[in-house]
Amino acid sequence: MKKIERAKAFLQDHMDLFQCPICKESFNKIEGNSLECSQGHSLNISKKGTVHFLTKTMSNDYTADMLSPRYRIAQAGLFNEMLEAVYPHIDATTGTTIDIGSGEGSQLNYLSQLGLKGKQIGFDISKDAISLAAAHFDNAFWCVADLAQSPFASEQYDTLLNIFSPSNYKEFHRMLKSNGKCLKIVPEEEYLIELRSLLYRDREDKQAYSNDKVVAKFREHFDDTQTDTIKYTFPLTLENYHDLIEMTPLSWGASPESIDYARSHPLKEITIHVRLLVGRKNQI
Ligand SMILES: C[S@@+](CC[C@H](N)C(=O)[O-])C[C@H]1O[C@@H](n2cnc3c(N)ncnc32)[C@H](O)[C@@H]1O
Ligand SMILES: [Zn+2]
Repeated sequence: MKKIERAKAFLQDHMDLFQCPICKESFNKIEGNSLECSQGHSLNISKKGTVHFLTKTMSNDYTADMLSPRYRIAQAGLFNEMLEAVYPHIDATTGTTIDIGSGEGSQLNYLSQLGLKGKQIGFDISKDAISLAAAHFDNAFWCVADLAQSPFASEQYDTLLNIFSPSNYKEFHRMLKSNGKCLKIVPEEEYLIELRSLLYRDREDKQAYSNDKVVAKFREHFDDTQTDTIKYTFPLTLENYHDLIEMTPLSWGASPESIDYARSHPLKEITIHVRLLVGRKNQI
């Protein structure tokens, strides 16, 4: 089936998962290649099978040239062990899962390779990220949207994934079903530590990282929070290493000299050290 036909079939069957980003009413039909709400607002379904739900242009620091390196290193398995630790926390593996700030889609796709079934949606504010996700992966419906003003209907989602991405807990609670779960991954102190010490060799203030504030904020919004720490090292080929430098926001704060230094001193392995936060929405 063509990508656009698959997306149209998904939207037709699961219109109740969405709400119009303009008037917040529900969508009620597909007319040609458009999704239409009850107030007559119409959104195009692209040939790639994606929908662009943003109502205005949004800026984003994650540029297109970071996406292919992230795709390649994710495919090489950098995050696999982390996702294998996340997967058992998903209760409703046949329910509805949404990946919030999905980037180029590898994480949600790997969870589906691990056995995740049911309805899957991945969205990101970056149009380039969603184009890549839709080109590579058919396990989910991919769309462009803002997590702060999302076009997703209330209380329809069993599992929210929020992996290295920003949060908006008001929206997350609105979207979650009663008793649904939010699974958030944040870096821990030693996340990419070897690369951090190369890129920030001249910036001692930037060498340490603490997630205390992010974790505290999550706990404020989920009375029932469990946490788990995941740590492992991943062996790097030279190609993986160069992709790692390109894909990480760590490079943003580094001086051009330190980036050159890091490029010419390749690492043989890298530490993945993250905190998994599991929040359950109270039963109503
Ligand atoms: C570090 S990347 C993580 C991507 C992916 N989850 C992964 O682990 O590979 C953070 C992502 O959050 C997205 N993002 C930032 N602000 C957003 C927003 N307001 N709404 C949706 N996505 C957003 C960025 O475009 C970027 O793709
Ligand atoms: Zn509308």
